[in-house]
Amino acid sequence: MFKIVKKRDLADVSKLMEVEAPLVARKAQPGQFIILRIHENGERIPLTIADSDKEKGTITIIFQEVGKTTKELGALEEGDSLRDFVGPLGQAMELPTSGRVIAVGGGVGIAPIYPKVKAFHQAGMEVISIIGARTADLLILEDEMRAVSKELHICTDDGTKGHHGFVSDILQGMLDDKSQKIDEIIAVGPLPMMRVVANQTKPYGIKTVVSLNPIMVDGTGMCGCCRVSVGGETKFTCVDGPVFDAHQVDFEELTRRGQMYLPEEKEALDKYKEECGCGGGNSEIG
Ligand code: NAD
Ligand code: FES
Repeated sequence: MFKIVKKRDLADVSKLMEVEAPLVARKAQPGQFIILRIHENGERIPLTIADSDKEKGTITIIFQEVGKTTKELGALEEGDSLRDFVGPLGQAMELPTSGRVIAVGGGVGIAPIYPKVKAFHQAGMEVISIIGARTADLLILEDEMRAVSKELHICTDDGTKGHHGFVSDILQGMLDDKSQKIDEIIAVGPLPMMRVVANQTKPYGIKTVVSLNPIMVDGTGMCGCCRVSVGGETKFTCVDGPVFDAHQVDFEELTRRGQMYLPEEKEALDKYKEECGCGGGNSEIG
């Protein structure tokens, strides 16, 4: 069993938890994720390792209560335990040691981009971050992102904080500013956002990576559930990713596959709401 040692509300429906998992914490690297199960009959959900502490033996996860399982997870308190907590899974991210990176985080995608930005920062790179949410109340990890970024740009779809518009608006301004060299761009967020960023940066020939979060089951490359076409080859996000070259990802196929289980996810959530009078599905990594 894996004990929840800390729980914090980040925004309306986003929560942070620190979980005691010393063996995972000992090996965790930026870009990797865990798969947890709340109880014996629970769904397996992947979540990015947002932070890890080798001394304390803890792993930090951040999630948004969007489906049955994340709702159930959000209802747990400090002192409660999780049945399974498997990891670290996936490939660690490649870390260049110098240069200028632009990090684009959208919505809940700010949680998985944070450990990557922190790692870039610690490796000595100059990171310019752009984060966005639908509205100011949904913006998470602003202080944490500011602490590891040379510049932080904030956007909200409704204009309640920072730039009134999408993260891609700010990115376009930076791409057009020829006085500032950009060595790499990393984007993590909803699929439409990552697709837009990939299309924006391609004509400029700037290396761009995205962190994908398709539905996963085993997390070890056996079920095929998380497959994605990258550069015309089939890859498994859980073992080959989750970070991939954005210009090689087939976003069209990924979008179609992501919608395959929406009816089942809705059914599970409705049943859960009926049973406990609250709300809750598959969640997100990145
Ligand atoms: P959202 O729809 O509120 O979007 C967040 C921000 O992304 C927006 O404020 C905007 O700045 C940008 N954005 C969204 N659509 C865009 C577009 N078409 N063009 C340009 N910019 C755009 O996101 P949310 O509801 O907080 O996040 C939920 C989604 O994020 C889910 O689909 C979830 O699966 C995904 N997610 C992905 C990861 C990952 O690792 N890639 C991790 C967590 C969540
Ligand atoms: Fe089964 Fe990746 S989750 S192959």
